[in-house]
Amino acid sequence: MGYDWQKRWTDGTTGWDLNGPHPFTSEFLLIIKQKYSDIGRWLVPGCGRAHDAAYIATHWLNSSGECIVDATDIIPDAIDEAKKLYSMIPNLHLYVDDALMLKDNEVGSYDAIFDRAMMCALDSKSRQTYIENCFAKLRVGGIFISLPFTKVANPQSGPPFEISPMAFHDLLLPFGNLVFMKELMAESVSSISAIQAEMAFIFMRRE
Ligand SMILES: C[S@@+](CC[C@H](N)C(=O)[O-])C[C@H]1O[C@@H](n2cnc3c(N)ncnc32)[C@H](O)[C@@H]1O
Repeated sequence: MGYDWQKRWTDGTTGWDLNGPHPFTSEFLLIIKQKYSDIGRWLVPGCGRAHDAAYIATHWLNSSGECIVDATDIIPDAIDEAKKLYSMIPNLHLYVDDALMLKDNEVGSYDAIFDRAMMCALDSKSRQTYIENCFAKLRVGGIFISLPFTKVANPQSGPPFEISPMAFHDLLLPFGNLVFMKELMAESVSSISAIQAEMAFIFMRRE
């Protein structure tokens, strides 16, 4: 049986929540503006309260003045809470969806996917399916932005599950090319005791 995310939302034990966007979110928007200014359609899977999705929806416009952000979570309570905070943002679409499923109409339909603490919420078996689906949802040349936890306090009892930089690279290499990598720990979530190291990666989907 999978992890009981419903219980986390029912009990309100959402310790991963930063009460706002991740500190790196504003920085990566500046970084990608240089090279990927055509990104118009975003997906944020496992969005929780959707702070990052809301930040992207309100701070990004592509070279044609477009930005649509789909933010999804498997737990309806998460989407209800996100809607309470952000339903007034017209280009942010919040809905329930399972990131481990792939629908025909999603294939190649996103320019960028933003993953914060979603991949590391999954065990290694589900993680492979998740990554395959994410890259199927991206168009060729689209980018996958991920902030994985590269070291956690209790690796055997996730979530969160850690993934080493090398394992992360090996997992994504069949689908895309690494275009950006940075260690984040000094500047980000040191307030969350379960997390000891965090990095940022951007991979571009190839053919
Ligand atoms: C650690 S939280 C991160 C939430 C958010 N990205 C953030 O940074 O605040 C992981 C989220 O993924 C959701 N989740 C777990 N499995 C999922 C799945 N298969 N599809 C979509 N969402 C899922 C959980 O309900 C939870 O809200």
